[in-house]
Amino acid sequence: MITKPKGCYDLTGVDAKKYQKIVDIVNAYAKIYNYKYIRTPLFESTELFKRGVGDSSDIVQKETYDFIDRGGRNYTLRPEGTAGVVRNFIEDKLYGNQTSVVKKYYIGSMYRYERPGLGRNREFTQFGVEAMGSDDPLLDAEVISLSYNILKELGLDVTVKINNLGSPKDRENYKKVLVEYLDKHINNLCEDCQKRIKINPLRILDCKVDSDSDILKNAPIISDYLDKLSTERFNQILNYLDYLDVDYEIDNNLVRGLDYYDYMVYELKLSSSLALGGGGRYNHLVSTLGGPEVPCVGFACGIERIINVMEDNINEDIDVYIMHINDEEKYKANILLQDLRLNNIICDTNFMNKSLKSQFKEADNMKAKILIILNSDDLSKGLITVKDNITKEEVKVPEDEIIDYILGVI
Ligand code: HAM
Repeated sequence: MITKPKGCYDLTGVDAKKYQKIVDIVNAYAKIYNYKYIRTPLFESTELFKRGVGDSSDIVQKETYDFIDRGGRNYTLRPEGTAGVVRNFIEDKLYGNQTSVVKKYYIGSMYRYERPGLGRNREFTQFGVEAMGSDDPLLDAEVISLSYNILKELGLDVTVKINNLGSPKDRENYKKVLVEYLDKHINNLCEDCQKRIKINPLRILDCKVDSDSDILKNAPIISDYLDKLSTERFNQILNYLDYLDVDYEIDNNLVRGLDYYDYMVYELKLSSSLALGGGGRYNHLVSTLGGPEVPCVGFACGIERIINVMEDNINEDIDVYIMHINDEEKYKANILLQDLRLNNIICDTNFMNKSLKSQFKEADNMKAKILIILNSDDLSKGLITVKDNITKEEVKVPEDEIIDYILGVI
C-alpha cells in the first residue's frame, strides 16, 4: 500500500470543516482590513530563502526541502510565505512611488523538514499578511490586532507575547554582551545552544530545552540595550494595543526563528501550547533581497495548530433529505433538489436505489432536519409529504408551496 509522506496528512471530516471555517473568517477579516489576496509559487529559488529567512536560521540550516529541477536550477519548497511575497513586491516594483502601504494576505501550504509531532508537520498551511511600506507603529498595531481578532473569532483565548528586538545596531551591541555572558555557562547549555552561540546567539533565549534554566533567567535583557527611538516606537505600539483591547504580555526572551526581524516581534499563544502564530517587523528584508529600504510588518498563523485546539462544534447537518423509489419520483427529486439549492437549502438524496428503510437510515446519518418523502400517489394529487425528522410529524404540502413551506420550518 502506498501511504502519505511522513509528516503530511489528509484533511477530511470535521477537520476539513474547521479548515473551511478558518478560511472563511480569514477572507472576511482580510476584506474589512483591506488586505488583498496574493498567491506565490509553492517553490522558489533556494537563494531567496537563504538570503530572506536567513542562513543562520534553523529553517534554512536543517529544515528546507531543496531540489534541483530537470533544467539544473536550485529550488526550495517554501518553508514560509513572507520571502515569496517580498520577492513579488520587488519583482513587480510595487515600491515605485509608493503612496500607500501595500497590504497582502495569503493562505497556502508550507514545507519544513521538522520532526513530526502534534502541531508539527512537514506539510502545513499558513494564513498570513504582509504590510509593506510604512514604519508607523499604527501599522504594527493593525497587524497584531488583525491576527488576534481572527483567533478570537475562532473562539481561541490567545495572549500576544511581544518583544522589542531593536535595530540591527542595538542587536549587535546586545549580542556582544549576551555572548560574553553565555560563554561563561556554555557547558551547561543544551547541544543545540552550544552551536547557536556562534551562529545565532539570540535564539538561545527562546530555546525550548533551556527555557527554565537560571542561566537564561539571569541573562542580560535586550530592553537595556535599545535606543530611545525604538523604545518609543515599541511603547507606542503597546499604547495602541491597549485601546484595541488586545491581551498582551511583554516577553523579553521572545526572539523568533527567522533572521529577518527587527524591532517588534510577537507570537500568539494559548496558555500551554505551541505558538498558533507569530510575526513582527522586518525593515531590512526588502533591501536584503535586492529592493530599496522598505519597512514592513506581518504575521502568519498555522492552520493545523488552530484546528487542533478549535472546538468540535462544527455543524454538518443537512436541512432536507429527499426520498424516492421509482423513476417518476426520482424525476421529481431531481427538480426539487435544484429548487431547494437555488434557495440555499442544504439538501441531499438517495443515489443508490436504496429501499425506503435504508433511505430513512441515510437521512438520519446525514442528520437531516426535514424529510421529503416522494410518492407517486401524492404527486398525482399535486401533493408532497414532508416529515419533521425531529418531532416525526408528517404533513402533506401542495407542490407549488413546498419551497416556502421548507423555508418556514428549517
Ligand atoms: P513562523 O513562526 O515560522 O513564522 O510560522 C508561523 C506559524 O506557522 C507558527 O506559529 C505555527 O503556528 C505554524 N507552523 C510553523 N511551523 C509549523 C510546522 N512544522 N507544522 C505546523 N505548523 C507550523 C513565519 O513563518 C513568518 N513568515 C511569519 C511572518 C509573516 N512574519 C512576518 N510576516
